[in-house]
Amino acid sequence: MYFFLYIVTVINLLQIEKIAREQFCLHRASIHGLGHWKQVAENGIVLSTQPGTDGIVVQLFALLHDCKRMDEYTDTEHGQRAAEFAVRIRSQHLKALSDEQFEKLHWACGYHNHGQVHDDPTIGACFDADRLELTRVGILPRADLMCTPIGKRMAVKMKHSFILSSD
Ligand SMILES: [Fe+2]
Ligand SMILES: [Fe+2]
Repeated sequence: MYFFLYIVTVINLLQIEKIAREQFCLHRASIHGLGHWKQVAENGIVLSTQPGTDGIVVQLFALLHDCKRMDEYTDTEHGQRAAEFAVRIRSQHLKALSDEQFEKLHWACGYHNHGQVHDDPTIGACFDADRLELTRVGILPRADLMCTPIGKRMAVKMKHSFILSSD
């Protein structure tokens, strides 16, 4: 008789949120803080309905991508610091991720603020989830700079709503 032991390791998003908040050095009401992360996560849920998108990577991106910001304005290195932070917590908190999942999370965090588009549905969903949040700083997301079909549609809708509301 064989006994099989299945060890199920899950990602605890609440724990990741707690760790990310502990890292965050800006004011709690920061435009790059928790409120923004939650909105990125919400956008990410919609964008993750696209085939081939890894929803858990998108949710982790939402919580981590801006947690190492050091100012509200430029801080061009914050994406790279977030990617490095993901490496630091991988063995303890992200060990349920496969190498492929981790690579996508790492890449998305590291390059999310470089204005690139990406063909991979998961990395594209991460970028779009963040860019759709540009409205919070008075910027309409551009459909041509979105990576995913859903992201492009959402950006077009936002533009139409803006045009209608300014008539
Ligand atoms: Fe950012
Ligand atoms: Fe962001």
